[in-house]
Amino acid sequence: MKTGVHRIGIMGCGKIFPAYMRGLARFEHLEVVHCADIISERALLGHQQYGIPRWGGPDDLLDDEEVEIVLNLTPPTTHMEVSWAALEAGKHVYSEKPITTDLGDANRLLALAEAKGLALGAAPDTFLGSWGATSRAIVDSGLLGEIVGATAFAAHNRVETWHPEPTFLFKPGGGPSLDRGPYYVTALVNLLGPVAEVSGMSRMGPPQRLVTAPNRLVDVVDVEIPTHATGLLRFASGVVATVVFSSDVWATEAPHIELYGTEGTLSLPHPNWFDGDVRIKGTSRDAEWQTVPPVVPVGAQRGEGIADLVASFDGRQARTSAVLARHVLEVLLALGRSAQERAFVSIQSRCERPVWVDLPCPTWPVPDDQSSAGCQLGGGES
Ligand SMILES: NC(=O)c1ccc[n+]([C@@H]2O[C@H](COP(=O)([O-])OP(=O)(O)OC[C@H]3O[C@@H](n4cnc5c(N)ncnc54)[C@H](O)[C@@H]3O)[C@@H](O)[C@H]2O)c1
Repeated sequence: MKTGVHRIGIMGCGKIFPAYMRGLARFEHLEVVHCADIISERALLGHQQYGIPRWGGPDDLLDDEEVEIVLNLTPPTTHMEVSWAALEAGKHVYSEKPITTDLGDANRLLALAEAKGLALGAAPDTFLGSWGATSRAIVDSGLLGEIVGATAFAAHNRVETWHPEPTFLFKPGGGPSLDRGPYYVTALVNLLGPVAEVSGMSRMGPPQRLVTAPNRLVDVVDVEIPTHATGLLRFASGVVATVVFSSDVWATEAPHIELYGTEGTLSLPHPNWFDGDVRIKGTSRDAEWQTVPPVVPVGAQRGEGIADLVASFDGRQARTSAVLARHVLEVLLALGRSAQERAFVSIQSRCERPVWVDLPCPTWPVPDDQSSAGCQLGGGES
């Protein structure tokens, strides 16, 4: 057996499973040794397609002594029971988002991991990619001045057209807030720190969704939850953000995420991916949008968060920590609660901004001085 290699068992071999297999293959120190699913043919397919040595049902995986980390790729409403069983079996856990669909469950899961001395991490890990590092470097360098406001806009991901079984996304525990909200709120917390208070409004769009995915397992889904949610977040730092998470916006020209500072505006790419243009514009009337070269290499993929969790075994703080994921979950659930109760909701959990080690200073060429702009944006006359 190779030393220094961490062995992973994957629970849930559905739609996102291949992306993880591709992403994890990039890490020599991470090896998938077991895959399991309640539908055993899916686990068998994983074994056949990717040469995963062992496959079977959930109990087989938990009994596999070689498995050190369980990667939970089951649907959101199953995250709690699967992650709980894995921790009880003495395995570290990395879960897809959201960490759970209930805040009490998330609290219990964190407490169990701590009591057992096991690591618990959760997606999304896309903010560990090049846009996440670059935007964080810009914010930390102070280029934007005092950040006053922010926006996050998640439009429809057309899930009915590509997911063979999108039912869970239109039932309690799903919806655009819990499904896509984690990418946006995690990105904002990475940049701005914890959220203190939220308010929200929401509604349901059409009561049924036609599934047109070519390999669909269902033809229609009855919707049970709000599919268009809007909200306001007040961060502990004082920044105020406006968010929209929707499965009813089929087309939009709204930016994915923007931060508004006294010295400039920062525009981020789609946070579901690891790479994309980070653009900045100063306050001068004739300032141009400039694309900031990535401060870290591009090309990260799914699995980055597990590598991050494994790095924390040596004492480094995991950036995709359960503490962050629980805070993000609380914010997203509070948006729904606020909408129901027609009241502001205070956020109880706190988390530090994820710790980035040795983040380089962002640099880019400016039009009238082709030398590097370094850590200044230059507001000029407005
Ligand atoms: N599909 C995507 O593009 C995507 C992208 C990012 C994140 N995610 C996240 O990944 C997770 C899975 O999403 P998906 O789209 O792959 O769902 P999916 O329904 O396609 O796959 C889930 C799999 O888990 C299995 N499963 C259910 N309960 C189980 C249990 N108790 N033990 C073992 N296996 C069980 C199901 O049989 C199924 O094969 C979700 O948390 C989702 O939010 C999905």
